[in-house]
Amino acid sequence: MNTSPRTSTRTALVTGASRGIGAAIAERLAADGSTVVVNYAGSPDEAEALVGKIEQAGGRAISAQADVADPAAVARMFEAAEAAFGGVDVLVNNAGIMRLASLAESDDALFDSQVSVNLKGTFNTLREAARRLRDGGRIINLSSSVVGLTPATYGVYAATKAAVEAMSHVLTKELRGRSITVNSVAPGPTATRLFLEGKPQEVIDRLARQAPLERLGEPTDIAAAVAFLAGPDGAWINGQVLRANGGII
Ligand SMILES: NC(=O)c1ccc[n+]([C@@H]2O[C@H](COP(=O)([O-])OP(=O)(O)OC[C@H]3O[C@@H](n4cnc5c(N)ncnc54)[C@H](OP(=O)(O)O)[C@@H]3O)[C@@H](O)[C@H]2O)c1
Repeated sequence: MNTSPRTSTRTALVTGASRGIGAAIAERLAADGSTVVVNYAGSPDEAEALVGKIEQAGGRAISAQADVADPAAVARMFEAAEAAFGGVDVLVNNAGIMRLASLAESDDALFDSQVSVNLKGTFNTLREAARRLRDGGRIINLSSSVVGLTPATYGVYAATKAAVEAMSHVLTKELRGRSITVNSVAPGPTATRLFLEGKPQEVIDRLARQAPLERLGEPTDIAAAVAFLAGPDGAWINGQVLRANGGII
């Protein structure tokens, strides 16, 4: 049996794809031959612009609004993808938010918002994917290298990502027999709004120098790691966490 996803007809759903790492992943998977569902929560113009860019390059894409924290919206998004393309083969759980504070200074809103988007959001899409993904599919969850680095102020954020990694490992086993792989990609500091916003330039420069490769990651660096796991060459990789971070840890 050929367990590689079909390269010509497979459909990839990328959450949080209106900008940053998710947009780079959607563009890369489309360039590699997938039809792409570009999910977004609150940025329709950016999502539509990306769909236009993918189509201009000869790819196939649609946008799909859904707050991943809302289980009903996530179910509707999968139904829309199935109605448009007949099924979903690849799920990339990329949507995420980051709010930094020491645990002593973290309020309930900081905790609840990150748990609801990063953890519940990933749970919502994984549950749908476990029920619906076509055999031979791929699931890739965005974690973070801060799970290993554990820097001060990242407590709640890192905890949501550690939980995502744990859930990925469990799902790998629950999908036994369906030739679906489940892996996580854990970026280090990557030049996106999530990382750059609110940081003084000297902090950005210091974090950029931390990796032996002495630069920030680019969204395309992370998209390349995801494309490997989603493509034919990643077929034997299952239940792993791939830290894509220039060697920071
Ligand atoms: N950048 C880094 O240094 C870094 C490092 C490690 C891990 N990561 C992880 O990589 C992923 C992407 O991060 P990024 O840096 O590209 O962030 P970003 O530039 O802030 O983009 C986040 C994306 O997620 C979407 N989003 C946010 N909340 C959502 C929700 N509730 N439902 C659906 N979509 C939602 C946003 O779309 P809307 O504007 O439409 O809401 C946006 O497209 C995240 O999971 C993040 O934790 C990033």
